[in-house]
Amino acid sequence: MKIRDNIAVVAGGGSGMGAAVCRYLAEEGAKIIVIDKSENAATHIAEETHGLAIACDITKSEALEKAFDKIAKAHVRPISIAINCAGIAPAKRMVGKEGPMPLSFFEEVINVNLIGTFNVMRLAASTMMKSEITQEGERGVIINTASIAAFEGQIGQTAYSASKAGIIGMMLPAARELAKFGIRVMTVAPGLVNTPMLQGMPEEIKASLAAQSLFPKRFAEPEEFAALVGQIITNPMLNAEVIRLDGGMRMI
Ligand SMILES: NC(=O)c1ccc[n+]([C@@H]2O[C@H](COP(=O)([O-])OP(=O)(O)OC[C@H]3O[C@@H](n4cnc5c(N)ncnc54)[C@H](O)[C@@H]3O)[C@@H](O)[C@H]2O)c1
Repeated sequence: MKIRDNIAVVAGGGSGMGAAVCRYLAEEGAKIIVIDKSENAATHIAEETHGLAIACDITKSEALEKAFDKIAKAHVRPISIAINCAGIAPAKRMVGKEGPMPLSFFEEVINVNLIGTFNVMRLAASTMMKSEITQEGERGVIINTASIAAFEGQIGQTAYSASKAGIIGMMLPAARELAKFGIRVMTVAPGLVNTPMLQGMPEEIKASLAAQSLFPKRFAEPEEFAALVGQIITNPMLNAEVIRLDGGMRMI
């Protein structure tokens, strides 16, 4: 699917990888819609990319439905690109010094990372189905963000790993369901990426984590994630697959 002149929704587009995707796609000629819980962040990136800012919590069904209605009214054509980058990554042991993890902690991570991603996916797919088919038979592409923690979660990541494994698990049935409409579903599983999510981490921990990469021994940059997103959008043979973006890292 071409990027130029197409409409791209980026959930979590106010920061980190989502913001890099907004900048990349705007540069390539897409019309950008930034959805983020943070109104300031969404507005900032939307202004920078000449896009539309929508402040919305992706876990809320009605609020997101209204957001997609607003998007439909603001553009003459339906969206054809949807990128899910919103997420949270708190860590907590299943049983810590204070006792068992509060169930609400686990629920919150699943709610934002998995249910929020699904919420965007269902509404994006529904609007993509209404778009005109391209000469190549495509109507859209949905790209979700998992993590290598889906495969190699560390202590403290039961909730995060479960949420990211869920994103990978729902990809194939979604891709199968949407195939007849010419809509692809892909997942990127980043290793460690230099974004605000990780920037507060102590330098020595960052260095020891980066050392677990094969090559290059460093964190990925958000722009490298955005470039991969660009390749996934434009290469129609990429469907129903998880691509790791981690310099060969296997977390131990
Ligand atoms: N940074 C990493 O090393 C790394 C590695 C693997 C996977 N990931 C995943 O990549 C994605 C992007 O992470 P990032 O590093 O760019 O993080 P980030 O914190 O820089 O950006 C995440 C954005 O999501 C938004 N957000 C959070 N909850 C939301 C909600 N309920 N509704 C709407 N917006 C919400 C935040 O406001 C923020 O702007 C996340 O899903 C994260 O789990 C990050």
